Amino acid sequence: MHKDKILKEIVKKKINSKIISIEKFTEACLYGKFGYYDNSNVIGKKGDFITSPEISQLFGEIIGLFIFYHWKTNLKKKFNFYELGPGKGTLLIDLFNITKKFNEFQKSMNIYLIERNIKLIKVQKSNILSFDPKPKKISWLKNFTKKNQYPNIIFANEFFDCFPVRQFFKKNQNWYEKMIEIKYNESSIRFKDIIINNKKILKQLNQYKNSEVLEISNSRDNYFDKICKHLLKFGGMIIAIDYGYRNPPGHFTLQSVYNNKKSNLLDNIGKQDISSLVDFNKLIELGKKNNLKIEHFSSQREFLLNNGIKEREKRVLKVANNKQRIMIQKGVKRIIDKQNMGNLFKVLVLSKWN
Ligand SMILES: C[S@@+](CC[C@H](N)C(=O)[O-])C[C@H]1O[C@@H](n2cnc3c(N)ncnc32)[C@H](O)[C@@H]1O
Repeated sequence: MHKDKILKEIVKKKINSKIISIEKFTEACLYGKFGYYDNSNVIGKKGDFITSPEISQLFGEIIGLFIFYHWKTNLKKKFNFYELGPGKGTLLIDLFNITKKFNEFQKSMNIYLIERNIKLIKVQKSNILSFDPKPKKISWLKNFTKKNQYPNIIFANEFFDCFPVRQFFKKNQNWYEKMIEIKYNESSIRFKDIIINNKKILKQLNQYKNSEVLEISNSRDNYFDKICKHLLKFGGMIIAIDYGYRNPPGHFTLQSVYNNKKSNLLDNIGKQDISSLVDFNKLIELGKKNNLKIEHFSSQREFLLNNGIKEREKRVLKVANNKQRIMIQKGVKRIIDKQNMGNLFKVLVLSKWN
């Protein structure tokens, strides 16, 4: 059974019982040998991603124009375009479509798609390589790695929310970590709160003065830090879009979704998506620490409106038939909706133009 395989992997066979952090547990459920993102069934189980590029082609178009504008203003030469976790490859196709007339821009691009899921790589290849004209310099990588010395434009939508988090909370002046106890022989798994005595962790937690409930993702911070260092050295910018917050929300945000419905973290092990809101304050801090410029931070709604989504919508509607009109209007409304995606999602742009 899938669950048994993962638990066996975590407890390493001979040990009967083990207490691990939620971060380690999630890591095994998402990325381990039998994990959700490293396995081949993401699309089948999850159905289509309900992400902004999939909801409206105008999302990718506005991002495409934003990138083109920054390239023209700051680079005007060869560069690497990295997309982190490209899903079905839809954003890249919309970006290519909208910049079709900008020959020099498209010719200057080395494209690197960072993807771990083998089945998704196949979907991306079939979607992107059937685009006419086919993008030329394009390769797939499992990890963000340096390929050359060119400047970089890096894009990520709903990527940083995939990273595992540890959960901490304060009770009666003490910090606790929410952990998971696995008893392999009984095939049982449950939450267990453990008091924190480790001085280094306590110091880290006590930096958050106004919050008594915290989620911290070391792997996300390390990944982002690596990207910042790369940008500092070779120049360029990162556009990171995700659902997230600037100030800790005061409650845990980790959620699991199975067959498009919210589920229990300890169920459907290795078969469900697990994500959490991104701590943008931390990403901004890392950007500053690495001497990058905070080019932009706002809600997705504000970003899209400021960058002309309504004007673009008007133009597209003029040439659309009735059915297309309804779809276009519905899509735009959804990705800028104040009550939902429009405000919940944040856009962070960091840059270093040499
Ligand atoms: C929620 S989907 C978002 C897809 C796409 N960006 C979109 O907006 O439609 C997350 C994507 O990131 C990929 N992914 C998650 N963690 C990853 C990691 N550590 N390295 C590379 N790809 C990862 C997933 O396989 C998937 O393609």
